[in-house]
Amino acid sequence: MTSPQIAERTDAQTVTAGREWWRTAVIYQIYPRSFSDSSGDGIGDLPGITSRLDDLRDLGVDAIWLSPFQRSPQKDAGYDVSDYCDVDPLFGTLADFDVMLAEAHARGIRLIVDLVPNHSSDQHEWFQQALAAAPGSPERARYMFRDGKGVEGELPPNNWESIFGGPAWTRVVEADGTAGQWYLHLFDSSQPDFDWSNEEVREEFRRILRFWLDRGVDGFRVDVAHGLVKAEGLPDYTPDPEAGSMGGEEANVPYWGQDGVHEVYRDWHLLMEEYDGDRALCAEAWLPTPEKTALWVRPDEMHQAFNFSYLETAWDAAALRSVIAGSIAAYSAVGAPSTWVLSNHDVVRHASRLALTAENPQGHGIGPDSPGKPIPEVGLRRARAATTLMLALPGSAYLYQGEELGLPEVIDIPGDARQDPTWFRTHGERYGRDGCRVPIPWSTDAPAYGFSPTGQSWLPQPAEWSVLARDAQATDPESTLSLYRALIAERRARGLGAGSLEWLEGFGTDVVAFRNENITVIGNTGATAAPLPDGIVIASSGPIDGGMLPPDTTVWLAND
Ligand code: NOJ
Repeated sequence: MTSPQIAERTDAQTVTAGREWWRTAVIYQIYPRSFSDSSGDGIGDLPGITSRLDDLRDLGVDAIWLSPFQRSPQKDAGYDVSDYCDVDPLFGTLADFDVMLAEAHARGIRLIVDLVPNHSSDQHEWFQQALAAAPGSPERARYMFRDGKGVEGELPPNNWESIFGGPAWTRVVEADGTAGQWYLHLFDSSQPDFDWSNEEVREEFRRILRFWLDRGVDGFRVDVAHGLVKAEGLPDYTPDPEAGSMGGEEANVPYWGQDGVHEVYRDWHLLMEEYDGDRALCAEAWLPTPEKTALWVRPDEMHQAFNFSYLETAWDAAALRSVIAGSIAAYSAVGAPSTWVLSNHDVVRHASRLALTAENPQGHGIGPDSPGKPIPEVGLRRARAATTLMLALPGSAYLYQGEELGLPEVIDIPGDARQDPTWFRTHGERYGRDGCRVPIPWSTDAPAYGFSPTGQSWLPQPAEWSVLARDAQATDPESTLSLYRALIAERRARGLGAGSLEWLEGFGTDVVAFRNENITVIGNTGATAAPLPDGIVIASSGPIDGGMLPPDTTVWLAND
């Protein structure tokens, strides 16, 4: 199959086609089930995405990252894959995928797809074969089956906990009806972990990579890229209860960041090199520091890694200066660009997160009984300021669908409507991630705000979202959508992604100030207004008051 051609962008100075596009790209995450529903079943789908590509072109993004759309029983919203080389009927067909890809390329938009190599669904053919086979068989050796501890093997092989809560091991019933071995699942019991020491697993994933590369995708976002290899002997480990679910703040965890994982990505790097153009791998690896994460983007491994240290940084000037400088240093030391990201489908949306007043570990989410709930106006003001800062940074930036509308986290989802396995596995102790996954609003006056023609929506949409719909924002020059469009266009026109950062001093402890190419960026995270230097304002996250920069505001000034 030939790869569809990628059109050159004629609407701005920089074209997306060409080598190493990923170094500077603005990449927009689509969470398919919540983006746009063409069939009317209340779940977004691929034809729905195709129908909205003009909106993404108008937003100005270089690429799309598509969360899982492959065949799946949807126990973890598609991160439980039962067939890696097919589209789930919920989302459409392979033919729909090909049309979507061709239409994206025709608009100069690249497409990277999610790849989930740490675990499959328990409905995957291989896992079904493993259940039917005997202990010690080649079928079981594709996953992490172990005998239990205790006299009768009645205790799990170790004390590991699932990321979603509860034990990380489930015991199976053997073919003769007796209680048998246990299998490891770092996530839900429906997501058994593969054994990456098995060459058959490695070969199968080479086949899967090729399948999508041959169809023309521009790369992969690799799920749980820090988790494939587990420490020898599977030693006990008790996680810090305050650490984020994916382990971002913890060091020396026996299932995260093991050295052996890098061999897998060196192998994939070579495979990607066999293809024309420049396909990219992006690591979802939650590690304690940018230095650690930079190991995933050494020259012979992946191309990008999400900068979760940046995402986890509070709205605080000193902390921001430190993480930005640390990230640029760590990634440039290995020749990689830094990425920047503020929201995704696993974290509280930044229009709410940046105004939380209580600790909220990643993955726990917020709901009606959470302490320290955000004041919406403060959250939105900070989110706009944070994005204005982020899009001025050199490197690549990831956006999450709906943030360009300033969408907040949805807090009041009734318990019986929640769907995240975290909610069930912790018996409601953690709300989980549904609040950032609510289907996005397109039209103020249409059913389901234009998300679905029938008005259905797999998670309930709040009434307040009618004013946030895209059509209402498109014509309002002060809207968050207009701000995003302007920032992305200026970023592209001024080559900020390929620029370099020079810190500016003397603005006070609550201000982040730097120069990139021909702009000066000033962000005020403090509670009082800060003086602004002279300069022509080319973008501002909020109103500016008589030469002063109000709290929670970022501005770009032209130097030329
Ligand atoms: C990370 C994904 O982003 C998350 O949504 C998923 O639940 C886990 N990996 C398991 O695949």
